[in-house]
Amino acid sequence: DQSSFDVYRLPEEHEAIREAVREVCAAKVAPQAAEADESGEFPKASYDALRAADFHAPHIPVEYGGAGADALATAIVIEEVARACASSSLIPAVNKLGTMPLLLAGSDELKRRYLTPVAAGEAMFSYCLSEPEAGSDAASMTTRAVRDGEHWVLNGVKRWITNAGVSEFYTVFAVTDPSARSRGISAFVVEKSDPGVSFGAPEKKLGIKGSPTREVYLDNVRIPADRMIGAEGTGFGTAMQTLDHTRVTIAAQAVGIAQGALDYAKGYVAERKQFGKAVAEFQGVQFMLADMGMKLEAARQLTYAAAGRSERGDADLTYFGAAAKCFASDAAMEITTDAVQLLGGYGYTRDYPVERMMRDAKITQIYEGTNQVQRIVMARQLLKG
Ligand code: CAA
Repeated sequence: DQSSFDVYRLPEEHEAIREAVREVCAAKVAPQAAEADESGEFPKASYDALRAADFHAPHIPVEYGGAGADALATAIVIEEVARACASSSLIPAVNKLGTMPLLLAGSDELKRRYLTPVAAGEAMFSYCLSEPEAGSDAASMTTRAVRDGEHWVLNGVKRWITNAGVSEFYTVFAVTDPSARSRGISAFVVEKSDPGVSFGAPEKKLGIKGSPTREVYLDNVRIPADRMIGAEGTGFGTAMQTLDHTRVTIAAQAVGIAQGALDYAKGYVAERKQFGKAVAEFQGVQFMLADMGMKLEAARQLTYAAAGRSERGDADLTYFGAAAKCFASDAAMEITTDAVQLLGGYGYTRDYPVERMMRDAKITQIYEGTNQVQRIVMARQLLKG
C-alpha cells in the first residue's frame, strides 16, 4: 500500500508536536522577540509560556518528571521556537546541553537531584566548557579541580556561557590531572548558590541578545565529591559526546531561524509592488526564493537524519551531528541574508524582523564548535574509514 510508505515522512505525533509548539510561539513567543532583541533582557514571558506547555526542557526523561521527548521531537520544539525567537530557543536547547553530561554519565542519584527541578521548570542548566584561552582547543582548559577530603575545590574562569546567571545549575569541566591532558579532565555539577561562584558582565553581542552570555568565575568553589559526573578523567569524552547530540539542536535552531526569515520574505514580496506589479512576479526574485526554500529543506532533512542518529545513539552520530550543524548554520546565514536583500532598504531596518534573524543566524556558525571545527570532526570521521 503506497499510502503507508512512511520512510521519509515524520510520524503524526511529531507533526502534532510541531503544531502545538507553533501555537504557543505565535501567541506568546513571537510577540516579544523584537523587544528581547532590543532590550537585551532574558525573555521571561517566553520562558513562562514554554514552561506552561512543557516545552522548556522537553528532552528530560519521564522518570525524572520530564516530557520524555525523543531527539527528533526535541529538535522540532527548538526549530519552532527559533522560527519565532532565536533567543528563546536557547531555553530548551541549553537545558539539553547543560543536562546531557548527566544523562550520559551521571549516577541515578545525581540525575534525580538535578534533572527533576529542570523538568519542573524550577531551574535551568548551563554548560561550562570554553575558557578565555581555550575555545576551539577545548582540551587546553586550565580550570582546576583539586580533591580535598570529601570535597573538590574548583578555581578558574569559564567564558561564553549561555544563560549564565539565569541558570541555577552548571556542568563545569575542570582539570583533575594536569599531566594527562584530555584524559585528566572531569565533569562536575556546580550550583549558582555555591559560595565562590560569580558572573561577568553580560557580553554585548551581534545577535541572540535575549539570551545572556557571561563569564562564570569559580573562586575556591568547594563542592561535595558526589557532584562529579561519571568517573574521574572521563569529563572530556563526556563533553564531546554531549556536543555530538546537541549540535543537532543547533542545526534545528538554524533551520527554525531560516524558516522564519523565508516565511517573512515570501509574504513581503507577494505584497510589495514595484514597476506596477508584485515583486514576487519577477523571475529574479522567484529564483532567490526557490534557492532559499531548497537549501532550507536540505538542511532540515540532514538535521532530522542526525536527530534519528542521536535518538538511537548510532556510531555515526559524531559525523552527522557535525554535518547537520555545519550545513544548517551555513544555509541559515545565506537564507537570512537573502531575506534582508528581498526586503531591500526595509530589510535593513529594525522595523522588520529579518535583520534580527540574520544577526541571530550568525552565531549558529560559531557556537557549539565553529564550522571549521565541524569540518575537522567530519574529516577525521571520514578518514577513520
Ligand atoms: N565522543 C567521545 N569521545 C570523543 C569524541 C566524541 N565525539 N571526540 C573526541 N573524543 C575523545 C577521543 O577519543 C580522545 O580520547 P582518548 O584520549 O581516550 O583516545 C579524546 O576525546 C581527545 O580527542 P581528540 O584528540 O580528538 O581531541 P582534540 O584535542 O584534538 O580536540 C576537537 C578535538 C574536535 C577539536 C574538540 O576540541 C572540539 O570539539 N572543539 C570545539 C569545542 C566546542 O565545540 N566548544 C563549544 C562549547 S559549547 C558552546 O558553544 C556554549 C554554549 O553555551 C552554546
